[in-house]
Amino acid sequence: MANGQTDTLGRIGERVSALGDWVNARFPADKMWKEHASEYYAPKNFNFWYYFGVLSLVVLVLQIVTGIVLAMNYKPSAAEAFASVEYIMRDVPWGWLIRYMHAAGASFFFIVVYLHMFRGLMYGSYRKPRELIWIIGMLIYVALMAEAFMGYLLPWGQMSYWGAQVIVSLFGAIPFIGEGLSEWIRGDYFISDITLNRFFSFHVIAVPLVLLGLVAMHILALHEVGSNNPDGVDIKKHKDANGKPLDGIAFHPYYTVKDLVGIAGFAIIFSAVVFFAPEFFGLFLEHANFEPADPLKTPEHIAPVWYFTPFYAILRAVPDKLAGVVIMGLAIVVMFLLPWLDRSPVRSIRYKGWIFKTALAIFVISFIALGYLGLQPATTLFVWLARLFSLLYFAFFLLMPFYSKWDTPKPVPDRVTHHG
Ligand code: HEM
Repeated sequence: MANGQTDTLGRIGERVSALGDWVNARFPADKMWKEHASEYYAPKNFNFWYYFGVLSLVVLVLQIVTGIVLAMNYKPSAAEAFASVEYIMRDVPWGWLIRYMHAAGASFFFIVVYLHMFRGLMYGSYRKPRELIWIIGMLIYVALMAEAFMGYLLPWGQMSYWGAQVIVSLFGAIPFIGEGLSEWIRGDYFISDITLNRFFSFHVIAVPLVLLGLVAMHILALHEVGSNNPDGVDIKKHKDANGKPLDGIAFHPYYTVKDLVGIAGFAIIFSAVVFFAPEFFGLFLEHANFEPADPLKTPEHIAPVWYFTPFYAILRAVPDKLAGVVIMGLAIVVMFLLPWLDRSPVRSIRYKGWIFKTALAIFVISFIALGYLGLQPATTLFVWLARLFSLLYFAFFLLMPFYSKWDTPKPVPDRVTHHG
């Protein structure tokens, strides 16, 4: 390289670093990068299950970006909403891609979040000192359900309309204030243009803001106490001469690079669905939703989207409407209590005994079975099965203080075991 060119590059380099110093004297950019990336020490034994946190972040960004683009052509009015979605699908350049990404993205959000939560269950990531990470996670989960529910009304299809009708009318079961409350939520005597407008406003701005705030708190809480790991051992117990955990590696570059592998894997599966099966056999986008909403024609079979069906099955398993609503609510509330229900002396499933492992397996089977049953018509057999699995669902949580104590755990190693 000629001398003149080297000089120019050198001068540009100096300017950039001077700009960096100028910013750092006024904003903690370097400090934050160090604290949360280049000097955040994460356990070196993260496995496959640790991809789902970063994937939840990726899907969150994907939903926000595709959502903003969709909002450019979508019309939040009962008269125009359905047609505006058809317009996006047929006439807006690449509109079909953006819409399918956003619709399938909602299902993928729940897939990655459910797997992320399951990882927490397996490795006891909710236990002291990570209770708040779990609680904030649960608040995210509830906000996510509200976000998905309100988003589903927006295309103004038959299932949008009748799904919202069923769910909002559940509030009517509350004694005394119920009817008034559901009217207040709808802003009308039935699901109408007014309801669509307010759901749009919540879906595009209010709930996403809450979600972003909660996710920031989730990660700050995690970085305050440090990540758990598949062995559930505390890596801060063994540090080197510089005070760095012996079993820890810097998040950047080691996990930023590793996470790229997970993101690439996710991108392949996500693209396969978006391009080849965007409705995913009626699971991600229900067939009835390709018909415009008709307040005078109730669809034969109303079922929510798959990610809500475990709770819908619990609701239908209870004969009384009010009791059903309460028990369905408790099915979510009980998850918040998890950090105080597990009394096992060990964190990770790797060192828990057979009782806890069996309980977790039964819980997973029950949750999936309830999800399946919630999609089916409420026949006598299915309702009884839903009752059985609802009992098992609650038993997992409510009996945990007892069986987690009776269980015989295996000895926990002092340091993380490195697998692969
Ligand atoms: C938008 C949704 C969410 C996002 C973006 C998110 C993001 C993250 C990220 C990036 C991490 C660190 C990486 C990892 O450990 O995988 C993490 C950890 C964690 N998350 Fe979430 N999360 C979300 C929802 C949830 C939910 C719903 C729960 C549970 C109710 C939850 C519970 C946890 C726990 C317990 C940890 C610590 C895991 C450990 O250290 O082993 N998160 N989350």
